[in-house]
Amino acid sequence: MGQIIDGKAISASVRAQLKRETELLIGQTGYTPALAVILVGDDPASAVYVRNKQRACAEIGFRALEYRLPASTSQKELDDLIDALNADDTVDGILVQLPLPHGLDEQSVLLRIRPDKDVDCFHPYNVGRVMTGKSRLAPCTPMGVMELIHSTGVDVAGKECVVIGRSNIVGKPLSMLLLRENGTVTVCHSKTRDLGAVCRRADILVAAVGRAGLITGDMIKPGAVVIDVGINRTPDGKLTGDVDFATAEPVASYITPVPGGVGPMTIAMLMQNTLVAAKEHLAEKGK
Ligand code: GUN
Repeated sequence: MGQIIDGKAISASVRAQLKRETELLIGQTGYTPALAVILVGDDPASAVYVRNKQRACAEIGFRALEYRLPASTSQKELDDLIDALNADDTVDGILVQLPLPHGLDEQSVLLRIRPDKDVDCFHPYNVGRVMTGKSRLAPCTPMGVMELIHSTGVDVAGKECVVIGRSNIVGKPLSMLLLRENGTVTVCHSKTRDLGAVCRRADILVAAVGRAGLITGDMIKPGAVVIDVGINRTPDGKLTGDVDFATAEPVASYITPVPGGVGPMTIAMLMQNTLVAAKEHLAEKGK
C-alpha cells in the first residue's frame, strides 16, 4: 500500500515557513519583497492562476503588483512594461503568465525579463545555471517535485530516476535537479521504446506528459516513489493525473494524488523564488 504524499499540507507548511522568514526580513531591513504578475488577455484558467498567486503573496506578506492587459496589447507595450519593472528596484520578481495571446512572442518576453527577477526560471541564462548547478532559483514545478520527494525521506543519490516527459518547464529541468542530487536519470518521451520496461526500472518515477492514466500499476517497480505531474480533465470534468492511481497506489511506496499532489507545490516554490530574489537584491544593495 502506497503512502499518500500530501502536497496540500506540504505546500502549506512551506508557505508558513516563508511567511516567518518574510516577517523576519521585513523586521530586519524594512524592505517588503514584491512580485509583479502580468496577465495578458482573458484566458479564464490563467485568470484563476494569477488570482491564486496574488492570494499567496498576500498571505506570506509580499507586495503583489498585478498588471492586466487586454489581448490587443502590442509587443511594444508589453516590452515597455517589462522594461519598467526590470528597472524598478522595488520589484524583485516578474512573472508573465503563459500562454500569451496570439501575436505576442513568448520567447522574446522570456528573454526580456532580467534573469535576477525571473522567478519562473524560464530565461535561457537561468536554464543554463540550473544545468551547471549554480542556481538558487529553479523552475517552480520541478522544485515542487523535489520537495515532495524529499518529504518521503528517500535519498535520490544512486537511485534509478525515470522522468516521463521532456518539456522545457518540467521534464528537462527536473532531470537536472535529480542529477544534481546524484540520481541516475532517464528521460522518456513519445518515441521511447517499451516505456513499461523503462518505468519498471525506476526507484523514483515522475510522470509529466499530460496523458490521463498513461502509467498503470504493472509499469511500476514495487516500492517505487511515484510523482504525478499530469493534470488532465476526464470527459465528466474531473481532474486526473498521468498515473492510473487505482492500480499504481498498491504497488508504490509513496504516491502523489491528483489533485492535491504536485499542483499546490508550484505556487509555494514561486513564493520561495521571490524571497530568494528579494534577498539577493538586498545583498546587492548591501542590506
Ligand atoms: N502558465 C502555466 N504555468 C505557468 C507557470 O509556471 N509560469 C507562467 N509564467 N505561466 C504559466
